[in-house]
Amino acid sequence: MQNPSPQLDNVPALDALKALRVSESRYRRLFETAQDGILLLNADTAQIEDVNPYLIDMLGYSHAEFLGKKIWEVGPFADIEQSKEMFARLQSTGYVSYDDLPLRTKAGALIAVEFVSNTYDCEGIRVIQCNIRDVTTRKHAERALTESQAHLHQLTIFLQTAREQDRTHFARELHDELGQNLTALRMDFNALAACLATTDTAIASRLATIDQMITSTVDATRLMCEELRPGMLDDLGFEAAISSHAKNFTRQFGVPCDLLLDSEDYGLDKLLSTSIFRIVQESLTNIARHARASHAMVALQDRGGDLLLTIADDGCGMSAELTGEERTFGMLGMRERVDMLGGRIAIDSANGRGTHIEVSIPKAARPTP
Ligand SMILES: Nc1ncnc2c1ncn2[C@@H]1O[C@H](COP(=O)(O)OP(=O)(O)O)[C@@H](O)[C@H]1O
Ligand SMILES: [Mg+2]
Repeated sequence: MQNPSPQLDNVPALDALKALRVSESRYRRLFETAQDGILLLNADTAQIEDVNPYLIDMLGYSHAEFLGKKIWEVGPFADIEQSKEMFARLQSTGYVSYDDLPLRTKAGALIAVEFVSNTYDCEGIRVIQCNIRDVTTRKHAERALTESQAHLHQLTIFLQTAREQDRTHFARELHDELGQNLTALRMDFNALAACLATTDTAIASRLATIDQMITSTVDATRLMCEELRPGMLDDLGFEAAISSHAKNFTRQFGVPCDLLLDSEDYGLDKLLSTSIFRIVQESLTNIARHARASHAMVALQDRGGDLLLTIADDGCGMSAELTGEERTFGMLGMRERVDMLGGRIAIDSANGRGTHIEVSIPKAARPTP
């Protein structure tokens, strides 16, 4: 039987055609305005079937220079081995991605791209879609950041070392110059006082005051020397220096301090012993100044590959922002020392719950200043 109205029967087909055109135009527009390079290949022949304007701009080759070529026949992908290997992997796994692939533009510039490609089936034809993003600027910035961090790291090591050397130098000057002058002053004073041997109580009282002042100046000088560079650290070693420091802390501030050392000789070199000593010194000073604690604890554990240093108190604790990256100099100095040694520091503290500082430092692979 004949079809009575062929035009009417074609209406759905026309609608479908129109819908297809709308869809094609919509997706072509997406393809042409995308802010990433897009490359479409035939997955069986490796021939390029389409390239979007963004990729043409990025690589400097014309549309015609891409079309119909096998991917490794076009300049930017001219590393034939790499392109063929990528293509083979795409055929077997359906997916490849690189986060830093070097490509050369037609003008000869080397650029870094992020490259993601997938294989999919399009009406029986296997297609490979490659999305290509120029990340040259980002990679340069990342490299510059890494380099600058490495420089900062070196600078920190240099500054910390220079600071320790200065402190040692000042401690020696103070001890040798001021210390010797004070000793001479005391001897002259004692000789003079003996000559005077007065019964005048006013003069005797002034002589006693001068004697007292000389004694307290000698003590203050000795204390400053110790503070600048604990002689014990050099003479008797780290373990003795840290024990003496903990005892002095208790004597001076009336806060009992447990010292738990799990070795009699940690075998630390100068950089490591000075750094750990300084961290303990700063932490105990902080406990004395800020914590209002009734008890303090310092522990050092040798855990084979690394050392675990713990300093804790049962005082008032510190506010949340101070346990983070807040730039206060005592804490900053501690963080820098730990960083310089390739270690980690964790501060656990809260109002009313005391403060617990844990530092772990690798024993090996440390930079030499
Ligand atoms: N053990 C502690 N207990 C309570 N508060 C602390 C403790 N250690 C540090 N703080 C707080 O953290 C701040 C920063 O410490 P720090 O960087 O050493 O600077 P500074 O001691 O010069 O104030 C201190 O001012 C104090 O408020
Ligand atoms: Mg401090």
